[in-house]
Amino acid sequence: MPQHMEPTSAPRRTRVVVLFGGRSGEHGISVATAGGVLGAIDRTRYEVVPVGITQKGQWVIAADEPERWAITDGRAPQVPESAGEVVLPLTVGVSTLRVLEPGQVPSALADVDVVLPLLHGPYGEDGTLQGLLELADVRYVGSGVLASAVGMDKQFMKLVLAGQGLPIGEYTVIRPGDWDRRRADVLRAVEALGLPVFVKPARAGSSLGVTRVDSLDDLPAAVEEARRHDPKVMVEAGVEGREIECSVLGGRGGARARASLPGEIRVTDESKHGVYDYEAKYFDESKAELTCPADLPDHLVKEVQEVAVRTFEAVDAEGLARVDVFVTPDERVVVNEINTMPGFTRFSMYPRMWEASGVSYPELIDELVQLALERPTGLR
Ligand SMILES: Nc1ncnc2c1ncn2[C@@H]1O[C@H](COP(=O)(O)OP(=O)(O)O)[C@@H](O)[C@H]1O
Ligand SMILES: [Mg+2]
Repeated sequence: MPQHMEPTSAPRRTRVVVLFGGRSGEHGISVATAGGVLGAIDRTRYEVVPVGITQKGQWVIAADEPERWAITDGRAPQVPESAGEVVLPLTVGVSTLRVLEPGQVPSALADVDVVLPLLHGPYGEDGTLQGLLELADVRYVGSGVLASAVGMDKQFMKLVLAGQGLPIGEYTVIRPGDWDRRRADVLRAVEALGLPVFVKPARAGSSLGVTRVDSLDDLPAAVEEARRHDPKVMVEAGVEGREIECSVLGGRGGARARASLPGEIRVTDESKHGVYDYEAKYFDESKAELTCPADLPDHLVKEVQEVAVRTFEAVDAEGLARVDVFVTPDERVVVNEINTMPGFTRFSMYPRMWEASGVSYPELIDELVQLALERPTGLR
């Protein structure tokens, strides 16, 4: 190396903006996920810039304190409001986060190498934030605009998966207006599915607004509940089977995506009628049993992994996704959904399934950042 090119100091660590919180109902889960990631990311390789998004959507400088963001006493913390606002410039080639404070000259916060968007639900996992990051021309972890949007919208997720021959359950969609003006048609469509049905918001997550309906008399209340989260409602035929999940990680250098060993969720609380709900997911471990790896025969492990990777590919997912399936008593694998930003605390299924497959939580974070760094910005 010629004299003048010799490095004068150690190379700068890769700067990772850990972005969390957000406007969706899953704000708290996102914050808890950030707590886990801040505590585990390799600080010798990565310089971390935590940025919180408040429930009103304001970006703020956040404390780099993993414990502060953990779930304690059954409550998930929130990103507090702040006078200062962090902004990401949209000019191509300029990736310096700035802080705006009332009455002050904007100041530079950090040059961003990669953004790790740990956001769940609308305005985070649905392609909107991904669109902003695309406009800003910065690299980020996870799926792009289209895959995120398809993964968020259960109607289009099913259309895309069915279009590529993946096994899904039967369903009908209740759009705003159908319920109010064409109720008889809706009831006929739901009846045709058979009972029980699962009524859910088309674009939510974390089981918010999901109800199992065993009698048509209970349908109106379930639809109203789902509509509190989203005007578009899905009604799905209940699938009888075990709830199996599989973690998928994008392939390096153009290789095929990788699937973890599957895990299993068993809802143990009878009062939940087999619905793995918000409470069981995050706040009361006694209500569900998570088994990693799932006790499945080899041929079903392979089948679940293959379906998971094909689902990942079907929506053009990138980086990571968790694919949730049902395995029926007659050994069919039916896709329930793909989550493009699955729960990601150390205790969440996504990292646990990788842990069971030989990839530790810090290694997983490292791999995700590396995948984001190797992928070009723009059309790809
Ligand atoms: N079609 C279905 N058949 C059987 N159980 C279902 C069905 N849909 C949902 N469930 C149950 O409800 C839970 C939440 O539904 P899901 O579609 O995964 O919503 P979310 O996107 O909010 O996670 C599932 O984990 C499962 O326990
Ligand atoms: Mg789910």
